[in-house]
Amino acid sequence: YLSFFFPASSGNPDVTIARDRLGNEIKKDDFIRTRNPGTRELVQGPKGDPYYLIISENGELLSYSLDSVCTHLGCVVPWETGENQFICHCHGSHYDSTGKVVRGPAPLPLALAHVDVDEKGNIV
Ligand code: FES
Repeated sequence: YLSFFFPASSGNPDVTIARDRLGNEIKKDDFIRTRNPGTRELVQGPKGDPYYLIISENGELLSYSLDSVCTHLGCVVPWETGENQFICHCHGSHYDSTGKVVRGPAPLPLALAHVDVDEKGNIV
């Protein structure tokens, strides 16, 4: 029951249960039921670092999450619903809904992490 897969470049594969801001484990069924389609919610991933879990417009939990840390100088990038983009307020980088850079200075897309569900229904 594996969970987060880091990019190969990190050299540090890890597995963890995603947690909400209060540190509670997140059940997939609860998460889907209580959030709107199109939601991007910051959760704690491996080592407590912030990731976005994403519910698609069809109400499905996507199989990947996005690292919320800007690839420019490391600010946490908020999702701007009105703009349908992640916009870093530190130096103005924009990322589309999949984390791809649409405006610099960010040099790389937001990192992806694989999302799965363990046998207890927790998002991992
Ligand atoms: Fe995000 Fe510089 S840290 S644009």
